[in-house]
Amino acid sequence: MRRVVFNQKGGVGKSSIACNLAAVSAAQGYRTLLIDLDAQANSTHYLTGLTGEEIPMGIADFFKQTLASGPFAKKGKVDIYETPFDNLHVVTATAELAELQPKLEQKHKINKLRKLLDELAEDYDHIYLDTPPALNFYTVSALIAADRVLIPFDCDSFSRNALYGLLAEIDELKEDHNDGLEVEGIVVNQFQPRATLPQQLLDELVAEGLPVLPVNLMSSVKMRESHQVCTPLIHLDARHKLTQQFVELHDLLNAAD
Ligand SMILES: Nc1ncnc2c1ncn2[C@@H]1O[C@H](COP(=O)(O)OP(=O)(O)OP(=O)(O)O)[C@@H](O)[C@H]1O
Ligand SMILES: [Mg+2]
Repeated sequence: MRRVVFNQKGGVGKSSIACNLAAVSAAQGYRTLLIDLDAQANSTHYLTGLTGEEIPMGIADFFKQTLASGPFAKKGKVDIYETPFDNLHVVTATAELAELQPKLEQKHKINKLRKLLDELAEDYDHIYLDTPPALNFYTVSALIAADRVLIPFDCDSFSRNALYGLLAEIDELKEDHNDGLEVEGIVVNQFQPRATLPQQLLDELVAEGLPVLPVNLMSSVKMRESHQVCTPLIHLDARHKLTQQFVELHDLLNAAD
């Protein structure tokens, strides 16, 4: 199962959700891989503790190979980093992704990630893709490569307007490139149960027939702490309410498998 976590809005929790779901999956014994496609490398840092020059070239190296030609060019290999957490591996992101992007676009390398995932699917039960906050080459590659897309949402009215555009873009991409792609649902992050406006907004989305998932993720300082110590919530505080919500979400999303 290959799941992409995507919303072109920044800061809605894509990396936090992709990493914590991947960590729950790995802790439950599934062989799990997270592929970081964002030049900011937040997921990479969170799950490996590495920064700057310490980070291996990972996915940028793979994409670079797709641009190389000649009889001795090595092709289609990717370095996989083993995190300190059992069953959890990462394909790291680096800043090089930004400069590679125009070259990859120019050479129409949009299907290369899907081919890589076809090979990696033999070694992993669950593959998570974290994406940058833009509908760019990397996010489109991920949406072409994935079976499912999970959309984090922050209950903000600006985000709500962007959501309709986002769902339309996904529909178009499905039709043109990946008819197997399934929108798993919209997951509300940093939910404030005591405030009336977010709940109202959610009720409206549900009434409109949007696929809002029944598990909301609460806002908690535990998340920041978890980033700071580069330890996913399931390993930092398994009993915390937010951790339990991630477990519930993970189990809900994977119940049909
Ligand atoms: N449930 C939560 N409770 C509290 N803080 C959270 C929660 N989820 C995310 N955050 C915080 O919100 C910020 C943005 O989260 P995150 O980096 O996961 O979003 P993103 O969508 O990946 O951002 P970007 O678009 O820049 O990649 C981070 O500082 C993170 O600690
Ligand atoms: Mg991110």
